[in-house]
Amino acid sequence: PPFTVAEADEVDESLRLKYRYLDLRRPKMAQNLQLRHKIVRHIREYLSQRDFLEIETPILLKSTPEGARDFIVPSRMHEGEFYALPQSPQQLKQLLMVAGIERYFQIARCFRDEDLRADRQPEFTQLDLEMSFIEAEDIRAVIEPLLVELCAAFNPKVIQQRPFPVIRYAEAMDKYGIDRPDLRFGQQLFNVSEVVRESGFAVLKNAVGGGGQVKGVVYPGGAELPRREIDELTEFVKTYGAKGLVWIGVTAGPDASGHYGPESLRSQVSKFLAADEISGIVAASGAAVGDLILLVADQPAVVAQSLCNLRLEIGRRADLIDPTLLAFCWVVDFPLLEYNDDLKRWQAVHHPFTSARDEDWARLESDPGSVLAKAYDVVLNGWEIGGGSIRIHRSELQDRLFTAIGMSKEAAQGQFGHLLEAFQYGAPPHGGIALGIDRLVTLFADATSIREVIAFPKTAAGTDLMLDTPSRVTEAQLEELHIQIRPPKKR
Ligand code: AMO
Ligand code: AMP
Repeated sequence: PPFTVAEADEVDESLRLKYRYLDLRRPKMAQNLQLRHKIVRHIREYLSQRDFLEIETPILLKSTPEGARDFIVPSRMHEGEFYALPQSPQQLKQLLMVAGIERYFQIARCFRDEDLRADRQPEFTQLDLEMSFIEAEDIRAVIEPLLVELCAAFNPKVIQQRPFPVIRYAEAMDKYGIDRPDLRFGQQLFNVSEVVRESGFAVLKNAVGGGGQVKGVVYPGGAELPRREIDELTEFVKTYGAKGLVWIGVTAGPDASGHYGPESLRSQVSKFLAADEISGIVAASGAAVGDLILLVADQPAVVAQSLCNLRLEIGRRADLIDPTLLAFCWVVDFPLLEYNDDLKRWQAVHHPFTSARDEDWARLESDPGSVLAKAYDVVLNGWEIGGGSIRIHRSELQDRLFTAIGMSKEAAQGQFGHLLEAFQYGAPPHGGIALGIDRLVTLFADATSIREVIAFPKTAAGTDLMLDTPSRVTEAQLEELHIQIRPPKKR
């Protein structure tokens, strides 16, 4: 065999994927498949006991936008026409609510043509769920106990906090720079934009003056970190778009007047900063003697990207992450819309069937960016394991939403006419959620990639090495499908 089955050797992943049937003989992989089976079985039991009905929905479908590209399937019988594979059963589960199925679920396959990562496959599995006559709290009241039960049954780790903390999106972005914070450790970000607004250090002053911000994170015990490591951290944040990293090691306490003299600091930039600025920065950071303060000055998106990743890197390097914890949280109050600079229009953050908060509908046209959604994500140890929302169930509100995202009446009719028409026959208020089964099982299996819990996954390039696909089909097949392959574009 190409590798030994019995041993836990490091084997190159492409070899494992090519000979997946041998790889799956290895004890860890066999355990992962068993764990996945048990989790799904438990979910089915749990929901069945609560009067949920499992209903299958089609794979050959019409475009269901969830923010990715569709995989499309040509029709032999209808020349020039295509099905799309579902990015999720979103519209179908809403139509099931119109049909009077009050509680639906499905272990659903979803297909999204998007860039792949350790936590993303082109086809994956959701626990998809929808309920009528409910609010967001009712969804949480079904999902949270389910997750707690699953942990008790299949995970020896400890749930950090119950009920799961509920964090507003704005607060998550402010404190962690990301909407799926890893709460297993602290090191919250802090903002010193006001402290350095008039700074003599141009890098900081100009960032704030130019509509940006200056935020930072503390590396506990890092004041004497070797230069080489500080340089590594600087290179690290640059991969997320930051132009640099300001570092200030606090080597001793302040003097009698509360100021940090040169002898209390280790920094290249302290000479550019006024005494008040330095004490303001130290105070805002909460740093103690022995800690290293790290600052990034840039536009908010770059600051968030670089600091959320720097925070995680510090967590790993300084060993702050307690591996025995399961830190769940709910993230709520997401914005409904975000502006797409390329398309020059607003677009839905979640999907276009998500409702605004009742009190926010009035501002949809006048101030779209300020409208918050009845949307919620559930996060575990920094992974988004699920997301959902309360839906729009009245066609006039759905029309307003389509208009707000620049969709003409005709386009909306063409793409979603079935849903708009269905709402006219009376639709119950409804909402739901989908949990990423692959991600949940991965976290339970203590693995780092969802490929470890999928029997036959694709590579990061979207290929199947065992079946050697995607692959060409015969001329005859193409003929039947009325498809002609164009020669590759000349560059
Ligand atoms: P959403 O797009 O947030 O919501 O997906 C729900 C959950 O599915 C998982 N997930 C993935 N897992 C592996 N590979 C992927 N490419 C991938 N994409 C998503 C994540 C995510 O949290 N219809 C809505 C749900 C709803 O509103 O009810 C939906 O699909 O864990
Ligand atoms: P410079 O002005 O390029 O000499 O940079 C002085 C210090 O500020 C260096 O430590 C840089 O890494 C850091 N720096 C430069 N630009 C930024 C920025 N936008 N955000 C944070 N630090 C920066």
